[in-house]
Amino acid sequence: MVRTILLGPPGAGKGTQAERMIEKYGIPHISTGDIFRENIKNGTELGKKAQEYMNKGELVPDDLVCEIATDRLKKDDCKNGFLLDGFPRTVYQAQKLDEFLAGRGEKLDKVIDLEVSDEELMKRITGRRVCKECGATFHVVNFPPAVPGKCDKCGGILIQRADDNEETAKNRIDVYNRETKPLVDYYEKSGNIVHIDGMISPDKTFEDIVKVLG
Ligand code: AP5
Ligand code: MG
Repeated sequence: MVRTILLGPPGAGKGTQAERMIEKYGIPHISTGDIFRENIKNGTELGKKAQEYMNKGELVPDDLVCEIATDRLKKDDCKNGFLLDGFPRTVYQAQKLDEFLAGRGEKLDKVIDLEVSDEELMKRITGRRVCKECGATFHVVNFPPAVPGKCDKCGGILIQRADDNEETAKNRIDVYNRETKPLVDYYEKSGNIVHIDGMISPDKTFEDIVKVLG
């Protein structure tokens, strides 16, 4: 049983580590960003609302995000733990999550803070490519696909996320430093945050995470 949060700036490798973690721990991966992108793809009302903010690199309003996240946490597959990726992102969201968990007699085991420099974040974000079909993630320099533009896993077309251009990425990093970084202090007070080096290879970072989570 693991109840954990992956905290960390845009492009730090949250999705990359989440893939490894859900396989090892058998817990569901809850990424609010992925939920929004799925809704945008399907043209839902939620997707339309979220898109306005995401395309500018701004945060989707707290109440909307909190409702989506807690609805997802109520599902049966979260009874034996979960991995939250990209939620909470403001102190308000963190308080709402704590209240929600306390209401169920649960609490977080660990908050994992992935640390990566701003310069490296920009390189990771602008070089990221994702498969339109299966969502697999690549990087033009760090993890290029065998055939440029084509997914190694399913043969689908690789695209760039709408918010992965330089201008939006810069704003996402600014928004992170302003709105989300205060969460480090918030969780420091509860004593369950660990800082993990995200500048090394994904496998080495994963080893460090496993040392912490057991
Ligand atoms: P979200 O989808 O969560 O995006 P993000 O936080 O900006 O993070 P990313 O998905 O960009 O990066 P990542 O850390 O997952 O990195 P990855 O593993 O892909 O949110 C998008 C938007 O939705 C937000 O801007 C906001 O508008 C909205 N939103 C979502 N949640 C919200 C909330 N709670 N409140 C309000 N709004 C919300 O890796 C990046 C690249 O680097 C890849 O190419 C990868 O291959 C490569 N890479 C990974 N690890 C390494 C490594 N160790 N070495 C070298 N390269 C690496
Ligand atoms: Mg991600």
